[in-house]
Amino acid sequence: MERQRWGSRASFILAAIGSAAGLGNAIRFPYVAYSNGGGAFLIPYFVALLTAGIPLLVMEFAIGQKNQAGAPVALGKINKRFEYFGWWQVVCAFVIVCYYAVIMSWICNFLVGSINVAWGTEPMRYFTEDVLKVSDSPGNLSGFSLSVLVGLLVTWVAVYLILRKGTESVGKVIGYTVAAPVVLLLILIIRAVTLPGALEGLNYFLKPDFAALLGPRVWIEAYTQVFYSLSLAMAIMCAYASYMPEDSDITNNALIIVFADACVSFLAGLAIFGTLGHMSLTQGVPIQDVAIGGIRLSFDIFPAAINTLPGGRGVVAVFGFVFFATLLTLGIDSTFSLVEAVITAVADKWKLDKHRTTVGVILVMALVSLIFATKAGLHWLDLVDHYINSYGLIIAGITEAVLIGWFYNTDSLRQYFNPISEYKFGRWWTYMIKIIPFILFVLLAVYFVEDIKTPYEGYASIYQWIGGWGLIIAVGVASFVITKFIGKKNIAETGQTVDL
Ligand code: PHE
Repeated sequence: MERQRWGSRASFILAAIGSAAGLGNAIRFPYVAYSNGGGAFLIPYFVALLTAGIPLLVMEFAIGQKNQAGAPVALGKINKRFEYFGWWQVVCAFVIVCYYAVIMSWICNFLVGSINVAWGTEPMRYFTEDVLKVSDSPGNLSGFSLSVLVGLLVTWVAVYLILRKGTESVGKVIGYTVAAPVVLLLILIIRAVTLPGALEGLNYFLKPDFAALLGPRVWIEAYTQVFYSLSLAMAIMCAYASYMPEDSDITNNALIIVFADACVSFLAGLAIFGTLGHMSLTQGVPIQDVAIGGIRLSFDIFPAAINTLPGGRGVVAVFGFVFFATLLTLGIDSTFSLVEAVITAVADKWKLDKHRTTVGVILVMALVSLIFATKAGLHWLDLVDHYINSYGLIIAGITEAVLIGWFYNTDSLRQYFNPISEYKFGRWWTYMIKIIPFILFVLLAVYFVEDIKTPYEGYASIYQWIGGWGLIIAVGVASFVITKFIGKKNIAETGQTVDL
């Protein structure tokens, strides 16, 4: 079977930027930067990019492109025993996309709702009661929220349509899904900075507090943000690079992607804080009270901020639409990149027909994502998101860097990508790959201690076990079962093709 190819280098770069630039840029970055030293945060952020983001991205590209396969098979080709760790990434990607798709559904709901400003004066009430119909505890599933189900269906159909011909169909939409959020962000920025109060908002975002750099917190946040934002250790970048010819440039591509991702984060910061500044001025609330990250920022605070725009309901509707369209176009390519990572891994391992794999994988994911469309979905999403990002991902990053940095001739990878790349990386790259596990280990330890001291969001310990620790153990077991048992029937080796 001939391997699929990206139509052009640009398609590949755009697809990788699309994956990297997601909700993490729009919602997480501005808040993390603001609460960790403002403008001064850019220093740890760039340090984290240089010492972890760029080296790891280059490593993942090199592994995927050199072995022409997604993470599990590519790592397995390097050393049979490494395959397990590839599956770990794939299983994490699977879990993440099951709830990421539900967030996309919420965004769809708000996008439609913006037409008649359905959130009125109380976005939070609209979000939790009208859209999600949230139940009081994770144990109380109480059926589905119909609006979330509909949004979810739309999301999965869109993902299928985009992925149905693999790189070919992705190549067709990727230009739009990457350009659209940038244009939309610019519209939001222009509106924001011309409002009274915007400058105070931006000042909060950017005013450097160099003293903050002395504490460990800022550095931890910087590494976490870089790691998450570049979609590292989730089998994505490896899968995407595996559809490039073996002799394509690696380092230059990686630098372009990292730069573009950072720019999107920065633009989002301007849009968010400019608008919050205006709201803070008109409502007389101090900005630190409105600058909140995550789900509340997108579905409560920001719609409330849009409500304060001068010009009446029509203006609110337009900018509400622009904001949610930004989130939607930012998030959709991150969503399908996660799905593609799983498809690539499965199709490569069992030499399956790619289209059938696409249908099968999406169906299973859609089914599992239903958990997050129940009325208790928000609780589970919150828990799973926290644990999978703090542990699933960081463990994936550590193991990946340990394997390549310490149990493999790291420099041979550098000797592979340097001759084919425009920019040559020195030995520092090799050393960084060896050092990264230690950096990430510190992150892991800090998260662990915090979670032990105060259980996440105060959920009862049974839920911490099901949605958190148990889930991580399940990821480990599932990866083991796939590698040892299902993967043992490696049809690929007998050269047969199997239908799903
Ligand atoms: N990189 C994406 C963002 O910044 C998030 C993401 C993580 C997407 C993992 C895919 C996989 O929002």
